[in-house]
Amino acid sequence: MTAKPDPALVPRHVAIVMDGNGRWAKARHRPRSFGHNAGRKAVREVVEACLREGVQALTLFAFSSENWQRPADEVGALMRLFVRALDKEVDELHGHGVRLRFVGDLTAFDAPLRQRMQTAMARTAGNDRLHVSVAVNYGGRWDIVQACRQAAAAVACGQLRAEQIDEALLAQWMTLAELPPLDLFIRTGGECRMSNFLLWQAAYAELYFTDTLWPDFDQACLRRAIEDYARRERRYGRTGEQVATAS
Ligand code: IPE
Ligand code: IPE
Ligand code: MG
Repeated sequence: MTAKPDPALVPRHVAIVMDGNGRWAKARHRPRSFGHNAGRKAVREVVEACLREGVQALTLFAFSSENWQRPADEVGALMRLFVRALDKEVDELHGHGVRLRFVGDLTAFDAPLRQRMQTAMARTAGNDRLHVSVAVNYGGRWDIVQACRQAAAAVACGQLRAEQIDEALLAQWMTLAELPPLDLFIRTGGECRMSNFLLWQAAYAELYFTDTLWPDFDQACLRRAIEDYARRERRYGRTGEQVATAS
């Protein structure tokens, strides 16, 4: 039996840019959609690993606001995959006590898909073991803009004065504000960039990049990322000595 991980060394909130599906499929001489479909297994793996490790929140980048620029057949295949995944996976997630949410500008999706997302969110709303947020048509810049818009609306109707807007206030309107702060930001697929994911929330996240392509990412890969995270010293601008004496 393996020892239960020390909770202080486990990230409370993990976000993943699930990248590399296309290259995984290409290496197998299959269409890109084959890689996206294979990525579903990796999602199941990380959800199980997060439940086991005691991670409280998992945020997955499934479709960026820029991904609409891909060929229409790939975008269509991804939308069909979302529908299939919603129809097939929600029961199991619900059984595991997972609260499922979709974040991003959902207005861009067609009504049947939006309805499925709403149904899944409502069904799992009472769960609290693990919060899984799936970012679709999400962009970090969009997120900051929508928070600013809410602040501007509050000022316009006299609820707020412009001088009262500070980081803490704006943070309340950002997506995922009700979750623990983002501790660990993972990107699979070898690219070392954020691609417009969680720009505000990742300000002090620990970044972890791996060459593993998303469909190959499994529970052991997440364990390695968490072990790497546990070795980091989070200084938040202070010195190492200050951090050592504070703990
Ligand atoms: C990530 O894999 C999935 C989405 C962006 C929807 P990619 O499709 O970007 O795979 P690569 O980067 O081309 O290998
Ligand atoms: C980021 O991956 C988006 C998702 C994984 C959903 P991309 O493959 O779209 O990012 P770029 O194009 O390499 O920056
Ligand atoms: Mg990619």
